[in-house]
Amino acid sequence: MNYLGIDLGGTNIKGGVVNEAGEILREASRPTMVENGPDAIADGIAALIKDLEQGETFGGVGLGCPGTVDDESGEVVCAFNLNLIHYDLRGAVKSRTGYEIRLGNDANVAALAEATVGAGKGAHSTVVITLGTGVGCGVVLEGKMLTGYTGAASELGHMVIVEDGAKCTCGRRGCFEVYASATALIRMTREAMAANPKSVMYTVAQENGAVDGRTAFTAAERGDGTAAEVVHEYVKYLAAGVTNVVNIFFPEIVAFSGGVANQGEALLRPLREEVRRQEFGGAYVKRHTKLVPCTLGYQAGIIGAALLAKL
Ligand code: BGC
Repeated sequence: MNYLGIDLGGTNIKGGVVNEAGEILREASRPTMVENGPDAIADGIAALIKDLEQGETFGGVGLGCPGTVDDESGEVVCAFNLNLIHYDLRGAVKSRTGYEIRLGNDANVAALAEATVGAGKGAHSTVVITLGTGVGCGVVLEGKMLTGYTGAASELGHMVIVEDGAKCTCGRRGCFEVYASATALIRMTREAMAANPKSVMYTVAQENGAVDGRTAFTAAERGDGTAAEVVHEYVKYLAAGVTNVVNIFFPEIVAFSGGVANQGEALLRPLREEVRRQEFGGAYVKRHTKLVPCTLGYQAGIIGAALLAKL
């Protein structure tokens, strides 16, 4: 039997038909159009389900959504970047399609996918950290996705790493997300560029058409000192949060996804060194948490949502 997985993001709603082995058989996507409001998002999800159905009956439909979702009631409790507050998404999708969807946090289900068929396959425990617009985290311990009491667990992007730091969209100050997301890296890059008009980062940004998460890494590779400082600063913040994750869970794997993670070893090598230096007992323990790239890319969200429907 096949399952349908849907990844509801701020820009696109992506969906796929996933088989029992966690492989995507066919995919489709639609723009989310947050500006048109919650019911339009439900319309988009329903249309995507129709696109993927093609006469097939599914074993279940799962959906990953940013923020806090309640799989018991079917409500999106709060997804700030989608403007969904106390929205009965299960009811809205059911009335449009007849399907009773299961709900999970987007990063939690991505972690379920990576732990089952991706970077953490066969591992004792896996934490996935997504470095995108925000910082998403999902925790799978001995095969079980950590959801907490009501589904709101693993919001590690909202642990404070800088006391009285910059304001986060969640209302607190100094959250990990404000310093380790792609958004944060771009902010740091822009600030460094403004202070150093001769930086190679200007050339790189021009080549790529914009300042993005690659700008500082590429310019640092070309020997630009200011860019190297941006990368160093960014890795320092990322390491603070990752070390906390290691100290709390001591997972076998921490896997990274999202645009910034595409830097691969240029990011992971200095990050490993820093985390090793800071983690509890780092100089003494014989086996360390492995910091690796995710292997499923954007498909993790779709596969994980389908796996959730199968649970
Ligand atoms: C949200 C998380 C989500 C992450 C990635 C964060 O801002 O709080 O729930 O997983 O963004 O979408």
